Amino acid sequence: MEYTAEHATLLDQNDPLAKFRSHFYIPPHGKTAEKLYFTGNSLGLQPKRAKELILEELEDWAQLGVEGHVHAKRPWMPYHENFTASLARLTGAKESEVVAMGTLTNNLHLLMVSFYRPEGKKRKILCESKAFPSDQYALKSQIAFHGGNPKTDLLELQPRPGEFTLRTEDIIDTIKQNKDEIALIMLSGVNYYTGQCFDMEAISKVANQNKTVIGWDLAHAMGNIPLKLNDWGVDFASWCSYKYLNGGPGCVSGVFVHQKHHKKKDLHRFAGWWGHDKSSRFDMPEDFVPIPSAEAWQLSNPPILGMTALLASLELFDQAGMKALREKAVKLNKYLRFVVNEISERSGVSINIITPEEEKAHGCQLSLVFPKNGKALFDILTAQGVIADWREPDVIRMAPVPLYNRFQDIYEFGKKLEFAIEKTMERNA
Ligand SMILES: Cc1ncc(COP(=O)(O)O)c(C=O)c1O
Repeated sequence: MEYTAEHATLLDQNDPLAKFRSHFYIPPHGKTAEKLYFTGNSLGLQPKRAKELILEELEDWAQLGVEGHVHAKRPWMPYHENFTASLARLTGAKESEVVAMGTLTNNLHLLMVSFYRPEGKKRKILCESKAFPSDQYALKSQIAFHGGNPKTDLLELQPRPGEFTLRTEDIIDTIKQNKDEIALIMLSGVNYYTGQCFDMEAISKVANQNKTVIGWDLAHAMGNIPLKLNDWGVDFASWCSYKYLNGGPGCVSGVFVHQKHHKKKDLHRFAGWWGHDKSSRFDMPEDFVPIPSAEAWQLSNPPILGMTALLASLELFDQAGMKALREKAVKLNKYLRFVVNEISERSGVSINIITPEEEKAHGCQLSLVFPKNGKALFDILTAQGVIADWREPDVIRMAPVPLYNRFQDIYEFGKKLEFAIEKTMERNA
C-alpha cells in the first residue's frame, strides 16, 4: 500500500462497487467541492431514488386517499412486507424472522418484555460497560420495572486494565461463570465507541449452551457486517436503518425474532392490532391472536412516508450484495489504518487506533484516539470539509462505507489531517 494519490486512484479504478457512489447525494463543500463524508455509521447519505419513491407515495395519497391502503402502487396495508426479503438477506434470517417496524429503543423494550423474564436467582442482564447510553437506560429501566436493582442486576463487561476492547474469551468466561444468575445477555454487535465487532457466533453459541437468552443491538452492525442470526441461534435483535442502511433520519427500525419462539404460547408480549392474525384483524375481535412470525411484535400500522427511503437503499444493497460490500469495507478500513499510521510516523504525533486490527473484529469504523489536541484537530478537519465525529473525551470516529466512499476520500483525508497537525503544532509552538 502507498499513501499517494496515484495509489488511491488505482484502488478506485479496480473497485467493482465504484459505480454505486453515483446513486447517492454527496453533501457539497463550498461551491465546487464535496465533503469527505465518513459518518455512514451515524447517518447514511441519501440515495437519489429516495425522493422519487417518496413522491410516488405522496401522489398515491393525493389520488387515492384512504383507498391507498389497498390500491396504492405499493399498498400501504402490507407495506412493511416490501422490506422483508432484503432484511432477511442482510441478517441471515428466514423471512418469517424479520420485520421492519418501530424505532430501535422502543423495539428493544418490546423485545425485553418478551425475553427478559427474571426469576429467582436468574435476574441479571449482562452487557458491555460503555454500551450506548440509550441501551443502558433501557436495560436499567427494565430491571427496575421488574422490581430489581440496576446497581446489582446489571453485570457490565469491562476490558482488561490497559485495554480498550473486550476479549471474546473473557465474555465467554463471564457467561459460563454467571449462567445461574444471568437472565439475559444484551450486547451490541459492533460497539459504537470502539468499533469493535464482537464474535456474535461464538457468544450466541455459548449463550444457547448455557440456556441464557441472548439479544443483540445491531445499530452499528446492520448493513456493515454480514450476519447469520438464524444459524447463530440468536434469540432476538433489533437495529436502526439510518446508519449503514441509509434510510434517512429517524427511519424505521427492524426486529429479528428467532423462529424457535414464534409459536410459543407462554411468551409475554405487549400486543397491538398490527401483530394480530391478518385474516381476522379487521373483524376487530376481542382477543389477540399473534401472527406466528416476527410480525407479531408489531403494534401499529406502518409509517409509510417514514419508511420509503429505505426501499431505495435496500435496492442498492441487493444489487451490490453483502459479500462484495464487506470485501470493499475491509479494504477501505485497512487503507485508512495504513494512512493514519503513516501520518503518525511522519509527523511524530501519536495517534492511537483503538479499533481491533483483526479482520473479524471490526467493521467499517476506525476509532482514533489523539492523546493531545484531538478536539482542535477535529475542528480544523471539519472546517476543511471532513465529516467525521467527535466523541468525548478524545475519540474521532470515522467510517468509510463501501457504497459511496472512495479510496481517494481516504487519501484526501490524510492530506487534510497532515495540514491540521501542522496548524496545531504552529499554534502550540
Ligand atoms: C448502539 C445504539 N443503540 C441505540 C441507539 C438509539 O437509537 P434510537 O434513537 O433509534 O432508538 C443508537 C443510536 O445511535 C445506537 O447507536
